Amino acid sequence: MNKIKVCVAGGTGWAGSALSKGIVSTEDVELVSAISRSHAGKLLGEVIGVDGLPAPIYATAEEALQTHPDVLVEYTKPDAAKSHVLAALRGGAHAVIGTSGLSNEDYEEIDALARQVNRGVLAVGNFALTVVLLQKFAEMAAQYIPHWEIIDYAHNEKRDAPSGTARELANRLSGTRESQLDVPLEETQGVRETRGARMQGTQVHSVRLPGYVISIDAIFGMPDQKLILRHESGTSAEPYVSGAILAIREVGKLAGLHRGLDSVMKF
Ligand SMILES: NC(=O)c1ccc[n+]([C@@H]2O[C@H](COP(=O)([O-])OP(=O)(O)OC[C@H]3O[C@@H](n4cnc5c(N)ncnc54)[C@H](OP(=O)(O)O)[C@@H]3O)[C@@H](O)[C@H]2O)c1
Repeated sequence: MNKIKVCVAGGTGWAGSALSKGIVSTEDVELVSAISRSHAGKLLGEVIGVDGLPAPIYATAEEALQTHPDVLVEYTKPDAAKSHVLAALRGGAHAVIGTSGLSNEDYEEIDALARQVNRGVLAVGNFALTVVLLQKFAEMAAQYIPHWEIIDYAHNEKRDAPSGTARELANRLSGTRESQLDVPLEETQGVRETRGARMQGTQVHSVRLPGYVISIDAIFGMPDQKLILRHESGTSAEPYVSGAILAIREVGKLAGLHRGLDSVMKF
């Protein structure tokens, strides 16, 4: 069997190490390298405590690409993600983006290069199956219910706001329509910021408090009734592993940028 060769950028991190462990126990996928600045020169297995994982760690994407991965998985930070993905595409690899915080302009640049070199990029704000389902259900609800808002909850140390999940949900709902605002934001009496941020036609509110892990509410309101779609994540990175492995398997069949895991799932 020809295994899919993978480089995990951020393979020593919280999400990347869980994925790397998942890849080790997956038959058709092989980890050939990882990227991390502070562990460059070591073997990934030593750093994350997995026997029989001799994948070398490099500080840069350019060095890691010398191991000829078919797919680079990006799980670092938004300021490094774009250059890693562009380097992967130039080096002939496909890319799976798990990192949150890239802008729409970043995605446009990535899409343009991916099309030019005929490689696939799959960007997924949240690989968890339950989140993919929440997105689908929310899109169905938005077809029938014109009013909705999103609340994203996370722990006090999460720096990016809103979450990648909230951004991606707002992006998807914009494909259905904009949520209806009966009082225009500029006519808000009091403090306008309390109405949240308007993102691609959706009001988004971010709560950052100790005691929360990561959760999201998509609230759809109609007269005298409402539908609340809620997703809650636990503290481990386990829910993201199987979705990321599915993305690794499927991205080679794509050309250009695709967003959301459901773009490669059957419903
Ligand atoms: N899509 C999803 O389902 C999903 C799930 C979980 C997390 N995420 C996202 O994935 C990203 C990573 O999250 P995390 O919690 O795993 O972070 P983390 O634990 O801080 O790990 C970050 C990893 O990236 C490496 N890194 C950081 N900056 C780098 C750079 N400039 N060059 C090379 N390597 C660099 C780090 O190693 P060094 O510091 O040694 O370089 C480390 O291995 C975040 O954007 C997070 O929101 C997405």
